[in-house]
Amino acid sequence: MTLHLLPADLDEAARLLRRGALVAFPTETVYGLGGDATSDPAVAAIFAAKDRPRFNPLIVHVAETAAAEALVAFDDRARRLAERYWPGPLSLVLKRRGKCPAALLASAGRDSLALRVPAHPLARALIRAAGVPLAAPSANRSGRLSPTTAADVAAELDGRIAAILDGGRCTVGVESTVLDLTGAAPRLLRPGGVPLEALTAFIGPIAVQQDMEDGAPLSPGMLASHYAPSLPLRLDVRDVRPGEALLAFGPKIPPGAARVVTLSERGDLVAAAANLFAALRALDQPRYAGIAVMPIPDEGLGRAINDRLRRAAAPRTP
Ligand code: TXA
Ligand code: MG
Repeated sequence: MTLHLLPADLDEAARLLRRGALVAFPTETVYGLGGDATSDPAVAAIFAAKDRPRFNPLIVHVAETAAAEALVAFDDRARRLAERYWPGPLSLVLKRRGKCPAALLASAGRDSLALRVPAHPLARALIRAAGVPLAAPSANRSGRLSPTTAADVAAELDGRIAAILDGGRCTVGVESTVLDLTGAAPRLLRPGGVPLEALTAFIGPIAVQQDMEDGAPLSPGMLASHYAPSLPLRLDVRDVRPGEALLAFGPKIPPGAARVVTLSERGDLVAAAANLFAALRALDQPRYAGIAVMPIPDEGLGRAINDRLRRAAAPRTP
């Protein structure tokens, strides 16, 4: 059952978030499906609730710029943009800091993270009360319209999340503009609440690149910014070859692996998703001959896990 909470119940919403539960909350753009951004299981639960067939990176919401600077490396452009547009409907994609506490799953395995400071006072109050940054995609099921009222959210996610914090109708109604600042030239990944023209006038020319929300194939340039293991991957493996490391799933482990990391011994796909990127990084060591991956059921979050593994196993061009 999903709780319907009002602004007076802010502490209850914050308590749920601290416990790893999911709470939808209003921002000035659209309602977000919030979870503790520092918890891989909470972020995995977000993907599960949305029924997303693939892991897109999520926007992490913080209450002030200083909290963003603790997660990612700011340059002068980022600082100027944050000063001018935060709080507000602009998300900045920046490089994760070495010790960034945000879940790897929030970055979908990349070395970058999207951040924004929402303008909605209830959103900022919630982030402060929770005491953690909140990963929050729009609070709709995958492939559906973004919700701008608590009733819209309930129609999408009732029974799938712990609570909906009702703060009335969102004023902007379209998502935030997503600007990638990881390269030399800023790139617009998604048009949104802050117009491109305004950004161009403020920081100069901006390249425009199609966002990957709908799963458009990755261009070679984008692949470089994704985490791809350097070892070859073999999928649907039942017999391990000499020297291979094994990415296991479930209780029955085939013998002979040089090293085993189990995504979920119980065969829990949400737990497996939470562990996926850390597990791949742990196994991607030059001392192994390759990474063998056990079969993972293609249902629920298993579809997103398999999508990611298939991309990692695909032949790469330098
Ligand atoms: O207005 C909004 O931005 C809403 C509210 C809730 O804040 N949130 C939202 O999140 O729309 P979501 O997850 O539905 O959209 C995130 C977008 C996706 O298009 C994703 O591809 C892009 O931001 N994105 C996030 N992190 C990224 C990253 N590290 N690199 C590239 N693109 C990223
Ligand atoms: Mg969305």
